[in-house]
Amino acid sequence: MNDSYKIILSEKELPQQWYNVQPDLPRPLPPYLHPATGKPVTPEDMLPIFPMALIQQEMSQERWIDIPDPILDIYKLWRPSPLHRARRLEKFLQTPARIYFKNESVSPAGSHKPNTSVPQAYYNKMEGVTRLATETGAGQWGSALSFACQAFGLACTVYMVKVSYYQKPYRRSMMQVWGSEVFPSPTDRTDAGRNILAKNPDSPGSLGIAISEAVEDAAKHEDTKYALGSVLNHVLLHQTIVGLETKKQLQLAGEKPDVLVGCVGGGSNFAGFVFPFVPDKLKGDNIRFVAVEPTSCPTFTKGAYTYDFGDTAGLTPMMLMYTLGHSFVPPGIHAGGLRYHGDAPLLSLLVHEKVIEARAYPQNPVFEAAITFARTEGIIPAPETSHALRAGIDEALKCKETGEEKCIVIAFSGHGFLDLAAYDSYLEGKLEDFEYPDSMIQEAICAIPKFPG
Ligand SMILES: Cc1ncc(COP(=O)(O)O)c(C=O)c1O
Repeated sequence: MNDSYKIILSEKELPQQWYNVQPDLPRPLPPYLHPATGKPVTPEDMLPIFPMALIQQEMSQERWIDIPDPILDIYKLWRPSPLHRARRLEKFLQTPARIYFKNESVSPAGSHKPNTSVPQAYYNKMEGVTRLATETGAGQWGSALSFACQAFGLACTVYMVKVSYYQKPYRRSMMQVWGSEVFPSPTDRTDAGRNILAKNPDSPGSLGIAISEAVEDAAKHEDTKYALGSVLNHVLLHQTIVGLETKKQLQLAGEKPDVLVGCVGGGSNFAGFVFPFVPDKLKGDNIRFVAVEPTSCPTFTKGAYTYDFGDTAGLTPMMLMYTLGHSFVPPGIHAGGLRYHGDAPLLSLLVHEKVIEARAYPQNPVFEAAITFARTEGIIPAPETSHALRAGIDEALKCKETGEEKCIVIAFSGHGFLDLAAYDSYLEGKLEDFEYPDSMIQEAICAIPKFPG
């Protein structure tokens, strides 16, 4: 056993291909359904909003997909990212477990999101697109896409969930530094936004609403396409660079992981982290995958596994996934990036097949874990990431009780340097724990239209 704190790969060891989990699933992924007809979506249906290269990746059954050189060149600005051994956290917890975390906070935008924004901007540029429209919750995705558009010379329009726009002004500044225009959603720029404002002028917005606005913007402008920061297969594919590096780094450390832990908003960082390990589990390796979500947006732990829209207005294809209903508007908790009503269809299938387990935490215990982590390992984690830390710490505390020397690996999806207002609220004792009422979840689930699928 070596005694290092970080396991670092050289640029030469950067993976040259993404891993596509689709051919290795226990059963095939059911198709997306057209919102108007209920029939399976064709590549042509998706062309108004996505470039063909990404549509092909969305539907690909190839296990390995080459990463083009211009993408690798941008990845190398921060990749490969370090895998840390959290020795000081282990000591503080007095656990026999070995805790590692894969640090995606070292990217320019401070999270895992540029792993997919860079390829998305690249493939759009290759197909002659000049502007991308997108939504953002906490501002992490919007800033990541702004950075990527700047790298490839594309214009970028961001619809930012209104509550975050005002809570997190510095993320908006980052997007503007990288050259984007940013609007608090719902806006009066789109039909979707105007409809919401007519019903509720004080709407705090939601990811679902902002997605409707960005999709509509892309569909109505010839030169513009839409970019999504999570949920879809091609997004999860790009994020597998994280798990592929982690696998190599664990091998270098002489480790076989027992538990992989990550937080889930739409599911991209968690999926990218665990998918490269899924074939090992399906072949019989004893490894657990733990997906962590907030109790205020309990998609896996309390949602239904059913076809639903990806957005609030019902413009996107319907996908078979865990969902709280597309009309669900979660309370404005601080982990803005975890407030989405659905979860990625690929991840949902694996949860449904019990390959992946899920659990939910309220925000006070999550912030307690974040403070413990910051005071031992130094880095101040994003509130989203802190959900993973809570679960990772709980796994390590279980090992303390049983004496098991497990290897626990946590996806450290981003830093919280722009979330300090949330830390202030926690330290002042002002954060409220919120459990979304079952009756309201049932109401939103009942409102999902039934299609033949
Ligand atoms: C730091 C961080 N982690 C996690 C997430 C959740 O997204 P996903 O589930 O797609 O990884 C977000 C979303 O904005 C985020 O900013």
